[in-house]
Amino acid sequence: MKKLITIAAAGAALALALSGCSAHAAPASGGDGGGKAIDELVVGFAQVGAESGWRTANSKDIQASFEEAGIELKFSDAQQKQENQIKAIRSYIQQRVDYIAFSPVVETGWDAVLNEAKAAGIPVILTDRAVDSKDESLYVTFLGSDFVEEGRKAGQWAVTEFADADSVKIVQLEGTTGSAPAIDRAEGFAEVIGEDDKFEVVASQTGDFTRAGGRQVMEALLKSQPEIDLVYAHNDDMGLGAIEAIEAAGKVPGKDIKIVTVDAVKDGMQALADGKINFIVECSPLLGAQLVDIVKTLNDGGEVEKRIVTEETTFTQEQAIEALPDRKY
Ligand code: AHR
Repeated sequence: MKKLITIAAAGAALALALSGCSAHAAPASGGDGGGKAIDELVVGFAQVGAESGWRTANSKDIQASFEEAGIELKFSDAQQKQENQIKAIRSYIQQRVDYIAFSPVVETGWDAVLNEAKAAGIPVILTDRAVDSKDESLYVTFLGSDFVEEGRKAGQWAVTEFADADSVKIVQLEGTTGSAPAIDRAEGFAEVIGEDDKFEVVASQTGDFTRAGGRQVMEALLKSQPEIDLVYAHNDDMGLGAIEAIEAAGKVPGKDIKIVTVDAVKDGMQALADGKINFIVECSPLLGAQLVDIVKTLNDGGEVEKRIVTEETTFTQEQAIEALPDRKY
């Protein structure tokens, strides 16, 4: 994926990206949808599903942002199935919406439907997750997190946390197989911990980004892996499921087995504040306002950067306690 997208520096580039004054030599065109009155615009959004607290927050934020902007949003939930997302996109093409936005459930297999959107002259905006395609002309821009960097941040925390340990046995709870966040978070984490032989990933299995999946995988692994020092869960929900399994096995999450997760949704932050999770790498689901800005910019005939990276932070227990009262999701 890294090869296929241009990573823009978040701050200045984001401001530029949304101002309509792109710094790109090759501009990303908004197609022929420009110049409509805001209340005449129609955007189709094909969501992944409702698999996690993050996803629920993301859907709510997108729907609220379009409502506030007065732009009609057609919204579909693919229940984590690529075929459902493809059907939704085809239906948006048939309905002749002005823009299509979607968060691809997996990275590959999109070229055919995206070519159909292109042939119909409907610009496509990727949000949250990337597609793995050689043809960058199939989408206008990709707005979302740098998942590889998120994995690196989790790995860097593990290196510091286990600085005095001689060996660290790790269980990795992977996100949806084939999805950008599962692939990239594994890559970033492996890159960092791979520098020291004492780190060993003893098991790595998918929990499909769900709490039930995280619990089931962890229940089984607690039986087959007698020694686990660290759980690296690709999202909070799987980490929360792992906590349930660890407690059911009579162990203390956060102490007997340390846990690092990605997202920082309220339930995850509460578990961090309670000492059951040890560290969280933030992945912001609040993409709605930026998505609206992109649509408006393109509609005005402006240009946007090919890659817009979301700004994010990390949380320790103390920081979670401080942030929780104001946490929006
Ligand atoms: O693509 C973003 C990821 O998808 C979030 O980390 C996870 O919670 C969600 O299901």
